[in-house]
Amino acid sequence: MDLFEYQARDLFAKHGVPVLAGEVIDTPEAAREATERLGGRSVVKAQVKVGGRGKAGGVKLAATPDEAVARATDILGMDIKGHTVHKVMIAETAPEIAEEYYVSYLLDRTNRTFLAMASVAGGMDIEEVAATTPEKLAKVPVDANEGVTPEKAREIVEKAQFPAEVADQVAEVLVTLWKTFVAEDALLVEVNPLAKVADGRVIALDGKVSLDANAEFRQPSHEELEDKAAANPLEAAAKAKGLNYVKLDGQVGIIGNGAGLVMSTLDVVAYAGENHGGVKPANFLDIGGGASAEVMANGLEIILGDPDVKSVFVNVFGGITACDAVANGIVQALALLESKGEEVTKPLVVRLDGNNAELGRKILTDANHPLVQQVDTMDGAADKAAELAAK
Ligand SMILES: Nc1ncnc2c1ncn2[C@@H]1O[C@H](COP(=O)(O)OP(=O)(O)OP(=O)(O)O)[C@@H](O)[C@H]1O
Ligand SMILES: [Mg+2]
Repeated sequence: MDLFEYQARDLFAKHGVPVLAGEVIDTPEAAREATERLGGRSVVKAQVKVGGRGKAGGVKLAATPDEAVARATDILGMDIKGHTVHKVMIAETAPEIAEEYYVSYLLDRTNRTFLAMASVAGGMDIEEVAATTPEKLAKVPVDANEGVTPEKAREIVEKAQFPAEVADQVAEVLVTLWKTFVAEDALLVEVNPLAKVADGRVIALDGKVSLDANAEFRQPSHEELEDKAAANPLEAAAKAKGLNYVKLDGQVGIIGNGAGLVMSTLDVVAYAGENHGGVKPANFLDIGGGASAEVMANGLEIILGDPDVKSVFVNVFGGITACDAVANGIVQALALLESKGEEVTKPLVVRLDGNNAELGRKILTDANHPLVQQVDTMDGAADKAAELAAK
């Protein structure tokens, strides 16, 4: 999960990375008081999860509270690379900036390690630096067990050739930034610019943090960092039910067990859809190994609640959870939904294969639900589901 700059700023502050005061607001008028609290001047910064805000006009100095209101008016609602600005951060103005540096940590999957990157040529064009003068971007692997000790920080500082007068401060930032990285289970922490300002201090003026969603279970406080307004409501509902669901833009709802099977189902449906006016999969939904009636009901409820869905393809390969259990799950799920007063009106195409497939098919045949039809092969079922969606 990527964070907004103001959230990154808060995490940095929590772990001792030097930052300036700042608060997030969502109306122009609120910029006045926030700027007054900062002594009458501020920097108004668009909060969007995309780079290049400054160049797009999303970072502006305000010399007075009135000016802050005017800049916030300009920036709120602005479109930056397809992202609408709903919030701005009113940040304390840094003393005159003498130099801008770059530091970051990230998970280096290719080399199976963590990586520190640092450059004295930071600021808005670090991507350009990395592309044209890669020697100016120092890369130092960080061992997960050892982490960034003061010695390691010193090594990074030397490799990036930071000037002597900021070496100690930058090393300190590197240590606290590593603490942030580890304590918050981040996949990326980046400071750009890390600025040396007129009074000699080194301060993080902009931050990017990406958190590891796999660590959510031990980071309960991260839940409130989620941008609930931006989340698709169906995805949010699925997440609340513990389902692995991704909304797509087609018309055939997909339920399968196992991520690999669901992905190949998406392909097969997209392919079959070419013969039926170009219908496509409406979602990814993996109900996992133990497809109980409740999980099946939850999954069906989400998918049938999507107005784009015209037909549903349930594609299950019985393994540890055998097909008879899945078939019972489908029958009970439909009954459960109907008992909740949710009228099921969309056709379901079910393909069962694998462990106890015969028995599973018999259960569905006996249940004889008017909206459920069975097709024995995956390709055939995909074709049927696409045909029904195209009607
Ligand atoms: N609080 C501040 N005080 C003074 N100047 C600032 C402040 N924050 C940012 N700046 C200046 O504005 C420039 C751009 O700001 P920032 O790095 O936050 O945005 P950006 O790099 O354009 O955005 P992104 O990281 O999304 O690409 C900085 O390089 C710095 O020179
Ligand atoms: Mg920046």
